[in-house]
Amino acid sequence: MNNFTYYNPTKIEFGKEKENNIGQYLEQSGIKKVLLVYGGGSIKQNGLYEKIITSLNKNNIKFEELSGVVSNPLLSKVNEGIKIAKKSNVEAILGVGGGSVADSAKAIAAGAKYDGDVWDFFINKAIITQALPVFTVMTLSATASEMNGNSVIINSDTKQKYSIGSVLVNPVISVINPELMKTVSPEYLAYSAVDVISHCIEAYFTASVHPKFNSRIVESIIKTVMQTTETLLENPNDYDARAEFAWAAIQGLNGLTTAGTEGGIFPNHMIEHSLSALFNVPHGAGLAVVIPAWMKWYKAQNIPQFKRFSKEIFYSEDENEGIDKLEKWFCKIGAPVTFKEINIPRESIEAIAINANETANIWGIGEIYPTKSIIEILEKA
Ligand code: NZQ
Ligand code: ZN
Repeated sequence: MNNFTYYNPTKIEFGKEKENNIGQYLEQSGIKKVLLVYGGGSIKQNGLYEKIITSLNKNNIKFEELSGVVSNPLLSKVNEGIKIAKKSNVEAILGVGGGSVADSAKAIAAGAKYDGDVWDFFINKAIITQALPVFTVMTLSATASEMNGNSVIINSDTKQKYSIGSVLVNPVISVINPELMKTVSPEYLAYSAVDVISHCIEAYFTASVHPKFNSRIVESIIKTVMQTTETLLENPNDYDARAEFAWAAIQGLNGLTTAGTEGGIFPNHMIEHSLSALFNVPHGAGLAVVIPAWMKWYKAQNIPQFKRFSKEIFYSEDENEGIDKLEKWFCKIGAPVTFKEINIPRESIEAIAINANETANIWGIGEIYPTKSIIEILEKA
């Protein structure tokens, strides 16, 4: 195991009805005015919006609002939020929604404290040195954005889906009430399951140093997510399954699985972000297409870990079976596994690969993933 620093400053408030305390949490953190950020309306339909407003009012927290964050969130909406945050002197950003809302809240928080263009942070032109505090109330579990410092945003002018990572935008407090997630559609539940699994397997397969303990955590998260997804597809109201899914999802990308590892990279995410940027594919759906293709392409580079994956997750001695069975499981839960299923024509492969290679360059892995290799992977999908 390598040396490491593990620091995750986010406090998680987990459980039933915790969203009713959000005003109190803000008040206790010394916040008097927030920018409330949310998506396209699910929080109004399920009554969460009213609960949040009631809690803010009860604790004398003033607020401005920014609605309409879309899945695959846009830079234009982030800039709208930054304008409001600066003009109204809000003291914190409160995101209520899924990963797209949380990611937008973080980008707004960083941009509100910066005089230049917030996109500078995404293209490594500037480093985040300060940000407004971020708070979230999550309505969908998948990304672990609730307990990490990442934000992934699409610049639709340049067709780039890029990310930032800074502990300064880790949420101060994230509220996770699994009950709020029972209205997530079966499609998005499936996409979320794929996303959590993807966060776990990226470093699991690509790291050069990967302690057994980390492998076991990853395997536990994957098994938990597979089991609870099947339960929830049958019965969306199963609280315990929802709760275990949510807690497992958080562990998938909060630094726990990679602490002590070395060299892990995120090639599946690198490629998927281009599908989202160019074709607005939901993140988890794009990953379900990319992962089996990447696994088949990459397997020869780490046979022992693919053997381990087959054995621990699917009780098979054959390293190929782990890949086949994972692909079949994606199909079983309703996730797409081919470009055809997500309506992307074969002729687009080169454009996707060029776009993904630009991301690879930003991430410093352009030489490992030249356009040619990405095309080879995509051909398998
Ligand atoms: O906008 P509303 O009306 O809220 O609808 C949303 C949205 O359409 C809906 N939804 C959310 N909670 C719901 C609900 N519908 C019914 N009931 C509820 N309780 O679900 C749809 C998807 O929401 P979204 O926030 O887009 O999903 P997710 O949490 O999967 O976030 C995806 C985004 O996160 C990025 C992805 O790239 C993508 O842009 N990622 C962020 C990461 C991070 N910050 O660490 C890492 C990930 O790898 C990922 O890249
Ligand atoms: Zn992801």
